[in-house]
Amino acid sequence: MKIGIIIGTRPEIIKMAPVIRECKKRGIAYFIIHSNQHYSEEMDSIFFKELQLPAPDYNLGVGSGLHSNQTGNILIEMEPILLQEKPDVVLVQGDTNTVLAGALAASKLGIKIGHIEAGLRSYDRTMPEETNRILTDHMSEYLFAVGPNQHAILAKEGIDSDKIFTVGNTVSDSLFQHLDISANTSTILADLDVVSKGFFLVTAHRASNVDIPANLLELLALFDKLHAKYTETIIWPIHPRTQAKLKEFSIELPKYLKLIPPIGYLDFIQLQKHAKLILTDSGGIQEEACLLGVPCITLRENTERPEAVEVGASVLVGRDADKALAAADNWLAGGNNHSWDNPFGDGHVAELILDIITNTVPSTLDQKII
Ligand code: UD1
Ligand code: UDP
Repeated sequence: MKIGIIIGTRPEIIKMAPVIRECKKRGIAYFIIHSNQHYSEEMDSIFFKELQLPAPDYNLGVGSGLHSNQTGNILIEMEPILLQEKPDVVLVQGDTNTVLAGALAASKLGIKIGHIEAGLRSYDRTMPEETNRILTDHMSEYLFAVGPNQHAILAKEGIDSDKIFTVGNTVSDSLFQHLDISANTSTILADLDVVSKGFFLVTAHRASNVDIPANLLELLALFDKLHAKYTETIIWPIHPRTQAKLKEFSIELPKYLKLIPPIGYLDFIQLQKHAKLILTDSGGIQEEACLLGVPCITLRENTERPEAVEVGASVLVGRDADKALAAADNWLAGGNNHSWDNPFGDGHVAELILDIITNTVPSTLDQKII
């Protein structure tokens, strides 16, 4: 049995880490291909260090670019490696261009694909990630669905139920494995001069929010309204896409927004845990906020993670300041102790995924690859 593990961006490194560690623990043969879609130290190598991951066996050096260029370059670089390594299965996680290209390269060679976080749908085709999700799911042999909603979505799309495995989300493994470590090592609250439950945390990087000047300004107007009512510091570890767009559009930020560069996972989970409120358009942060019991104002019109909304952990506001204020008023009136059901996994998801793979994927080390 040999597994090819494909990663490319910050959330893929974080959510694939438990799978990599579990392969290592079980002595399963694996290799890691990193597209380098993310490459800046604070979006990439910091996570290898903090999550104690082995260096990738292959770095494709693809970097940033227009969608087709980036996707095409990953495909081209990936093929000879897969031909040489002949894995029994490749694993991809999530919905990035790396995921689509990795799955497509494997599919063209007749290599089985396992898609971790299968079945998520926003039903918003303007999101590049939605196309990536749908196509990857329909190329996959092993669909690791987070919960029953995703299982039902995939079955409704005609995917054979035998291929769908409901396992939870590896985001829970990473989070639960690192909470204590981060509590013991991170000094981020002191470094930023904030106290527990004394600040709001913001992240934003969706193309729909930050690539269009009017939308980015609308988002900033939302923060203005929130700040006018609440005095809490707003901390914003800014994604490089957003940083680039602020510069391109020559937008100056108000002083009350405490802008910091993207930070490591151990610091970031402490910031999340101790935030009074999180405002985000990130997929992974919607899940982590829910797991940590921190209310999340989701800066999106729709979400492929409706479970966080259903359990009462998140409210979708888009860029509507009034909706955001109403959500903040509602939560903050009730104090800082929030609890809801956990729809995102028990922290043992990678183990389940590897049980399924080792029990069901035939090991075909001599399999003919076209
Ligand atoms: C990508 C994914 C998105 C995911 C996000 C996680 C796609 C289509 N998008 O979006 O689904 O939620 O990663 O963060 O796959 N940049 C740097 N350094 C880096 C990486 C990017 O400076 O290490 C800058 C570049 O200016 C680049 C821009 O960020 O053009 C966008 O990067 P890209 O990987 O294309 O998209 P993300 O917005 O990061
Ligand atoms: N994250 C981090 N540092 C930051 C911002 C986010 O470590 O400064 C982590 C966060 O804990 C989560 C993941 O990055 O696990 C989310 O990544 P992102 O928002 O870039 O992508 P998405 O989940 O939207 O695809």
